[in-house]
Amino acid sequence: MPQKPMLVLGLMSGTSADGIDAALAHISGAPPHLHAKLLSHASFKFPPALRKEILRVAEQQPISAGELSQLNFRLGRIYADATLAACKKFRIAPRRIDLIGNHGQTIFHQGAPVSYLGAPTSSTLQIGEGSVIAARTGITTVSDFRPADIALGGQGAPLVPFADYVLYRHPKLGRVSLNIGGIANITVIPAGARPEEVFAFDTGPGNMLIDALVQHFTHGRQRFDKSGHLAMKGKIIEAFYKELRTDPYLRIPPPKSTGREYYGQVFFEKVLALGRKYHARPNDVIRAATSFTAGSIVDALKRFVFPRHKIDQLIISGGGARNAFVCALIAGWLTADNVRILYSKKFRIPVDAKEAFAFAILAYETFHQRPANLPSATGARRPAILGKISYAPPG
Ligand SMILES: Nc1ncnc2c1ncn2[C@@H]1O[C@H](COP(=O)(O)OP(=O)(O)O)[C@@H](O)[C@H]1O
Ligand SMILES: [Mg+2]
Repeated sequence: MPQKPMLVLGLMSGTSADGIDAALAHISGAPPHLHAKLLSHASFKFPPALRKEILRVAEQQPISAGELSQLNFRLGRIYADATLAACKKFRIAPRRIDLIGNHGQTIFHQGAPVSYLGAPTSSTLQIGEGSVIAARTGITTVSDFRPADIALGGQGAPLVPFADYVLYRHPKLGRVSLNIGGIANITVIPAGARPEEVFAFDTGPGNMLIDALVQHFTHGRQRFDKSGHLAMKGKIIEAFYKELRTDPYLRIPPPKSTGREYYGQVFFEKVLALGRKYHARPNDVIRAATSFTAGSIVDALKRFVFPRHKIDQLIISGGGARNAFVCALIAGWLTADNVRILYSKKFRIPVDAKEAFAFAILAYETFHQRPANLPSATGARRPAILGKISYAPPG
C-alpha cells in the first residue's frame, strides 16, 4: 500500500545530558522499502540548572514525586521550545511537520529484572511530557518508546538497531554501527542480514566517564575533552589500565545494556581512587579512561562480533566521534582486522544527528502501527509497537 511521505522531527537527549539533538527527516514507504532522508539538524544545550538536576536525579539521588512530576512537564516544555527553535533554524513552519519522535530523558533504566517488593521487575523511565510537546508545537508527538519492549520481556534497549538496519544494511558488506554517546553501543548488521540476524548491545562507557573526569579536574571549566587533547597529553600507566579492564561488564555476553546507574558517579569515584593508587596526574587518569572507553569497544568487537561474522565496515556516530583520540585508538587496535572505519557523515548523517534521526524513523513506524524493536537486539519475546502518541490539539 503506498504511504504518504511524512516530515518527521526526531529529538534525542542522551545519557550525557548535554542537551537536545533535533533531526528533520523525510520518510516514506514501509519496511523493507522504507526510505528515510535526513534534511537538517540542530543541537540545543540544556540550561545549566536543568542539566544539574537531570544528572542528580539520574544518579538516583532522592527526588519527591512532586518534583519528578514538575521535571517531567518542565522537560516537555524544553523539548517543545527546542522544536520551535529548530523550525526557525530550518525555516520551516511547525504546521508543516507531521510528527515528532521524542526519546525523552532517561532518568532510570533497569533492563534486566531484579527483585522488587517480592517480584522480579524491570523498568525504564524517559521523561519529557509528550502532551506538553504536542500542545505547544501543534505537532502530534510519539514519546516513551522503551516500555513496550520491556513489557514483552525485552531490555527496552537498544532501539536504534531498527534504524541502523534501515539505513546501513548491505547485501555484500558486513557492517557495525557504533554510536559513542554517554554510553557506547554497537549494532551488528551482517552482510545480507534479515532483521532477526541483527544484534546489538552496549559495549560500556562512551563519553560519560571522560566527561565526569574532565569536569572534575577542570573544576567545571571544561565539560568534555575536546578532540581528546587532554588524554593525548596523559601518560599511559599500564597497571592502571589493566586494572580498569577487569570490569566485569565487559565479559557479560550480549544482549546487555548499561547506563549512568553503573558507569556514573560510583564508577567515576572508583577510577579516581585507582588514579590515586597509581599516582596518576589528571591527564593520566583521563588517558586511562579514554583508553578504557576505546578498549571496551574494541574488546566487544573482538570477543562477541568478529568470531561470528565477517565485518567490513565500522560506522561511527555520536558526540564521541569528535574525540579524535578515542577514534584513533579504536582504529589502531583494529588494524589487523581489516575493518574500514567510516563516520556516519559518509552516509549523509552528521555524527550528532544520527540518534535523533533514528527516533524520527521509530516514530514514523509507530504512527503506522508497525513494530520497531528488534527482539534479537532487546531480548523481547515479540516485536512491539513502540511508544505513546500525544495528538496535536484539533483545529
Ligand atoms: N569536539 C568534541 N571532542 C570530544 N568530545 C566531544 C566533542 N563534542 C562532543 N563530544 C562528546 O560528545 C558528548 C555528547 O555526545 P552525544 O552523542 O550527544 O551523547 P548522548 O547521546 O549521551 O547525549 C559530549 O558530552 C562530549 O563528551
Ligand atoms: Mg547528547
